[in-house]
Amino acid sequence: MGTQVLTQLREAFGSAVEVEPLVNETKMGRRVLGVDLSGPLDVDQAAAMIAAVDAWQVVCFPGQDARGMTVVDLERLANHFGAPIPHPSNVDGYRGDDPQIKGSLERTSTLVAAAFPGVVSPLSGAESLAVYNVTNLIGSGPTATPVVSGGQHWHTDIEFEPVPLSTSMFLVDHVPLTRDDGVSWVTNPPREPGFYHPDSPALLAERREALPLNGETAYTDTAAAYDALPEAERAYLDHVQVRRRLRKEDPGFLMPLVYVNPRTGRKSLHSPVWASRGKRVAPAQIEGMTPDESRVFLDMLEQHCLAPEFRYDHAHTRGDVTVWSNFATLHVAHRRRSRSTIRPMLG
Ligand SMILES: [Fe+2]
Repeated sequence: MGTQVLTQLREAFGSAVEVEPLVNETKMGRRVLGVDLSGPLDVDQAAAMIAAVDAWQVVCFPGQDARGMTVVDLERLANHFGAPIPHPSNVDGYRGDDPQIKGSLERTSTLVAAAFPGVVSPLSGAESLAVYNVTNLIGSGPTATPVVSGGQHWHTDIEFEPVPLSTSMFLVDHVPLTRDDGVSWVTNPPREPGFYHPDSPALLAERREALPLNGETAYTDTAAAYDALPEAERAYLDHVQVRRRLRKEDPGFLMPLVYVNPRTGRKSLHSPVWASRGKRVAPAQIEGMTPDESRVFLDMLEQHCLAPEFRYDHAHTRGDVTVWSNFATLHVAHRRRSRSTIRPMLG
């Protein structure tokens, strides 16, 4: 499939397109060189983009800053994967009047700008409700102790909507200087008690806590994890339904645990995680199981998916556009809101 997609990319974007693995040829993840995403795509280019994400799950297109890529361009690109939706964190607390939406939007973009006046400012277009400002600099400042924020749980984005988010994408603006820079990188502090269920298996706890380095995004391949299971288990999982909901009081809705890609037929585990948002999102429940049974069942699957052979930690580079499938991966960033003596990450 990979060779076909390379051919498709070259036919759509030109013969100079090159593809290299992010890990190796047998794993998910590719870097695609020679593609310009800063302008509108034609039908063949959009189809090639979708085919690349279908085939490789995490696809990085470097150098888009040199092409003048903006957040507006990114949102236009996102439309080829389905209608972009408002990020829940952008509309938290929204009660129907614009000032409250505006106040919520200020939480990331404006806080960062205020913390680094004249140094960091939100990119033009980042005020869109569909654009979530991912930063670890909220509340930090050159003269204050930095407050680092990041991901908490392994999760997929927006799995709790009846039409779940198929695809997410980064446009990278600032990054740490290097992976080896002892000034820019932080270690994760101890987890507060009660963050995860106390009965989680020890191996799962260990894998959950092996978070990526500050500024990186770690991914697991839930298609490879599905493929690695015995046939009888796969046959069972194919019929499992998960009740998902955003809030504890929501009735929720049933979704298949196994996603079947309609274009390739490839199967993957869609968000096989019980505690995807901690206290924020009600736990997923397997249809026909009690809450406790559901947790044990999903913990077993999460532990399997977080095995090192399925994982890839992605180091971002300024100007990257990185697109990933939420149906065929889980991801996580480093710990949220830890205090550290690091300096701000400005690349
Ligand atoms: Fe996420």
